[in-house]
Amino acid sequence: MKLGVVILAAGKGTRMKSALPKVLHPLAGRPLVGHVIAVSRALGAERVAVVYGHGGEAVPEAIGDEELSWVEQAEQLGTGHAVEQAMPAMAGMDRVLVLYGDVPLIAEPTLRKLIAAAVDTDLALLTVELADPGGYGRIVRDADGRPRCIVEQKDADARVLAITEVNTGILVADGERLARWLGRLDNANAQGEFYLTDIVAMAVADGVRVHTAQPADPREVLGVNDRVQLAGLERHYQQNQAERLMRAGVTLRDPVRFDLRGSLDAGQDVEIDVNVLIEGTVRLGNRVRIGANTVLRDVTLGDGVVVRENCVLERALIGEQSIIGPFARIRPDTELGPRVHVGNFVEVKKSLVDEGSKINHLSYVGDSVVGKRVNIGAGVITCNYDGANKYRTTIGDDAFIGSDSQLVAPVEVEAGATIGAGSTITRTAPARQLTLSRSKQTTLKGWKRPVRDR
Ligand code: UD1
Ligand code: MG
Repeated sequence: MKLGVVILAAGKGTRMKSALPKVLHPLAGRPLVGHVIAVSRALGAERVAVVYGHGGEAVPEAIGDEELSWVEQAEQLGTGHAVEQAMPAMAGMDRVLVLYGDVPLIAEPTLRKLIAAAVDTDLALLTVELADPGGYGRIVRDADGRPRCIVEQKDADARVLAITEVNTGILVADGERLARWLGRLDNANAQGEFYLTDIVAMAVADGVRVHTAQPADPREVLGVNDRVQLAGLERHYQQNQAERLMRAGVTLRDPVRFDLRGSLDAGQDVEIDVNVLIEGTVRLGNRVRIGANTVLRDVTLGDGVVVRENCVLERALIGEQSIIGPFARIRPDTELGPRVHVGNFVEVKKSLVDEGSKINHLSYVGDSVVGKRVNIGAGVITCNYDGANKYRTTIGDDAFIGSDSQLVAPVEVEAGATIGAGSTITRTAPARQLTLSRSKQTTLKGWKRPVRDR
């Protein structure tokens, strides 16, 4: 069975009050429509078409996915018209699934259930029972309980309005039949739109049995119309992720104060304190502990790593049992070996720091290669930039860099060298020697503090 998916994403999203098209607003760090594209792929869809309109090319450009079919619907003439625009892209598909770009939480098992409901017929609808069905199209069933048609809220009489089973908008249909039904739609209704929902009555008239399925969780079919609903779905999504992680053995000190915008792969007995934000692809080894108010973005942390409070780590590899923070910043292209200590107010950028080295206080280490067991004192700066180019600092194993020193790159401190505190090092500091640059200390004899005139 060849499955095609049509994602409707042409609507304006007026209530978002945004210059950004609605479907590009992020949920857990990914555009709303990105979630729908991802679930389509997970279903093994042969072809995925996105119908876009409002916001013009902004949507295809932001998603930037070559394998999608982008179908422009210049004027939003209704859901039926929107799907019809995408039908050329669905040629040869046995089944066509219609999804909405602003209904991001729809889950794979629910869609599999819907597709299974259509296995021996040509149309299946995803419906849901709502205590307050206001605004939705109602599922009208015949005396035998079979769906007969869908009536939109604005076209409904009191009897239909009392129906609590509503149309989620998500459906699956036989590809060829769907194309034929869409060709027969008209817009003679209260909104003057081509309603996708009118295909239900057509299917029934053609003798097609219409089946229905329901979502595992009714929140899967909630749409985003404004930023309040967006925040609501974000919380729901985060809560699900937090629960999944906790069931997999991760301790979250407070699951309500945890955000994952990407993917987290965590080992055993990982502990995450409050207000931690995880973005991109993050891997945490066994027994990793993350302190409060920390951001981890595209990082891999080895077993036993401790990140204390208030750190920001991005695109870095941290060796096992290293200790970071509090208040440390690890910037992209940094690799720390095992048992490295990076302390408070230290920034490390694009550097390799080997096993057992310590940079504990108020330092900047950039474009550097630091050997094993190096001790970098408080306030050491690698001066890597001359205003035009960046240069490398190399520090050999067992070197000791005294506090408040500047290493003016390109420069090398050889293995076992000691740099006296307060030095400005511009040339190679030889191995196992003390190198320092320091003006002589003097004391003025008989000097007195000035006194105030009168
Ligand atoms: C639609 C259904 C209704 C269902 C409800 C569920 C129809 C006629 N009605 O109503 O039965 O209960 O969804 O939310 O289908 N869109 C386009 N192009 C268009 C029109 C819409 O791409 O020309 C997209 C919108 O961006 C949106 C989706 O289709 O993502 C649904 O459109 P919307 O106007 O919200 O449909 P409703 O009137 O709410
Ligand atoms: Mg509408």
